[in-house]
This record gives sequence, C-alpha cells and structure tokens, in this order.
Amino acid sequence: MQNQLKTIESEALGELKALGDLQQLEAWRIKYLGKKSPLYQILRSLGSLPEEERRSAGAAANQIRDRLTALLSERQEALKAQAVSRPQEGLDVTLPGRPAPLGRLHPTTQTIREICHIFSNLGFQVVEGPEVEWDYYNFEALNIPRDHPARDMWATFWLDILDEKEQRKMLLRTHTSPMQIRIMEKTRPPIRVVVPGKVFRYEATDATHESMFYQIEGLAIDRNITMADLKGALYYFARRLFGPQRKVRFRCDYFPFVEPGVEMAIDCFACNGEGCRICGSSGWIEILGAGMVHPEVLRKVNYDPAEYTGFAFGLGVERIPMLRYGIEDIRLFYNNDLRFLKQF
Ligand code: PHE
Repeated sequence: MQNQLKTIESEALGELKALGDLQQLEAWRIKYLGKKSPLYQILRSLGSLPEEERRSAGAAANQIRDRLTALLSERQEALKAQAVSRPQEGLDVTLPGRPAPLGRLHPTTQTIREICHIFSNLGFQVVEGPEVEWDYYNFEALNIPRDHPARDMWATFWLDILDEKEQRKMLLRTHTSPMQIRIMEKTRPPIRVVVPGKVFRYEATDATHESMFYQIEGLAIDRNITMADLKGALYYFARRLFGPQRKVRFRCDYFPFVEPGVEMAIDCFACNGEGCRICGSSGWIEILGAGMVHPEVLRKVNYDPAEYTGFAFGLGVERIPMLRYGIEDIRLFYNNDLRFLKQF
C-alpha cells in the first residue's frame, strides 16, 4: 500500500512539472485527485483494512492528497497570472498602432494667433468684444451719424432689438472698430490693443465675399503719437508676417473715423512686384485700412484731442492665408470640409 502511494505521488509530481496550461492542469486533477483516481480508490478502501495498516496508510494517503491539492492550486494561480500578462493569440504586438485622428487649428485661428503674437511683441494687448452691437458703437461714435452716406460702406444686418426709450438699434457688427470706442470708454491712455473677432456683412457671397469673416482691429492712443508711429508699427508687422524684404506702400483712403486715412499694401511676395495672378498684375497687395484716430472720435469718449492722439487699423484675416496659400475661394474657410482644413 505504502509503495503504491509513493508511486502515485512521484508520478503525479513528475507530470505536474510538464503542464503548460489550465486545461492540462484540469486533466491532471481528474487523473490524480478525481473520484476515479487510484488515490481516491485507496482512500475509499481504507475502511476495509485492519486497524494498524488503516492508520498509517490513511495518514500517508491524506498527506499526499493535501500536498497534491496545494500544488494544484499553486499552479492554477501561476498559469492564470501568466494568461493575463501574455498577449492574446492572434494579436501581433509588433504592428504599428492605429493613428488616432488628431484635430488641428483652423487656418483662421492660426493666422489670428500669428498676427496677435507679432503685435504683442510691440506691447499690444489682445482683447475681444461683442458680435452683437449697438448702432452707437458700430457707427455713431465712430463719426458715422445716422443717414450719413458713409454707412453704405458697410452693408448691415440690422436686428429687431430696439431700445424704445433711447431709440437705439442693434446690429451684427460690420467691423471690429466698435471696440475702439468700448476700450477708450473703459481705459485711460496709454492704450495699445489688438482685437480679433467675427464681423458680418449683409452681402451676397462669392469667391471673395462671405457674410461672416474675421477682422483684427488695432488701436494705439497716447500723447505724441504720430503718423510715423503708425507707419513704424505697420512696417514692422508687414515684415514679420511677409518677410524682411517686403516693401510697404501707403495711399490715401477714406474712413470716417480716421484722419488722415490710409490703405496699406505690400509689394507682391509671389512675383516681387512684377505682376502676377495673386496681385492682380498690379505688383501690390492691399493688406489693411488704417489712419490717425479722428478728433471727433476722441471727443466722443471724452479724450482731449489736443492732449491725446493715436492710430487705428483694421485688417481682414482670411485674406492673409488666401494670399499665402493661393486659396481662391473664401467660402472654403467655413464649409467645414476636413479635406480643405487638413491642409494647413
Ligand atoms: N473698420 C474698417 C473697415 O472695416 C477698417 C479700418 C479700421 C480702417 C481702423 C481704419 C482704421 O473697413
């Protein structure tokens, strides 16, 4: 009996070492610890043995059973742990990962950030303002009184909102210039700000016109600011944005809220001024409108024009990437076609 038990034990231990997975382990359990196993048979037959033999054989058999059971659960745990840490079959861990779709900044956002960064290097702060605006800020305070023909320069989306008592009308701002007034009302000079934001025009859309687009307004107010400061700041800006070789041209232009008013152009970076498709064969590309803040505007915010002067400018944002990348239709910017947007 004792010999039989020894053989069972050494066989079981020998086989156990070679087992590689949970299935084999279960077969092993049935073979050595199951109801039909020799060990189980022995345990069952102990009762029929004489007293002496029953005791020693019983103790030995139980010891073997306990040992095998303990080793079994030890192996089970080990194999389970291995199964978790080992990659599943059929998974090739050397394959490159699937690319996660990454978002990116809209070309308009990129341009706004770039331009604001350049002006922040000149000490300008970046502020934003409301897109729904009072007539007063969009026109009136900017020296464009009601019924003034200059209002035709901005085709306006009027809103139904009307302040009955004061007869004030609301609109979608047609330019970022109303922020000139809001900033000057709230602050004392010196002022140096740039204001990026959406503006709206009640016009038919085509390749160069959208009813919504972006502008960046600039405003600098202090004692002794002259046209030379305007030109210096805008020269710096143009060369930072378009390269150090750029020539800059100022010509007279009219905006009711500046005097004198100018339009600034750079020599065409595509053809170096020789004339091409981008510059419409003129050699020059108009970039922005600007001028010295009109004394009438300064008075509207209770600044004394004898004490303070300043300059302002306004530029269309989309025009810049359109020129740079040769984008021919402004409507592409806001169609949300990823094939377009992904290219920048
Ligand atoms: N607000 C003007 C426009 O939208 C541009 C401008 C701004 C011109 C500031 C002069 C000074 O047409």
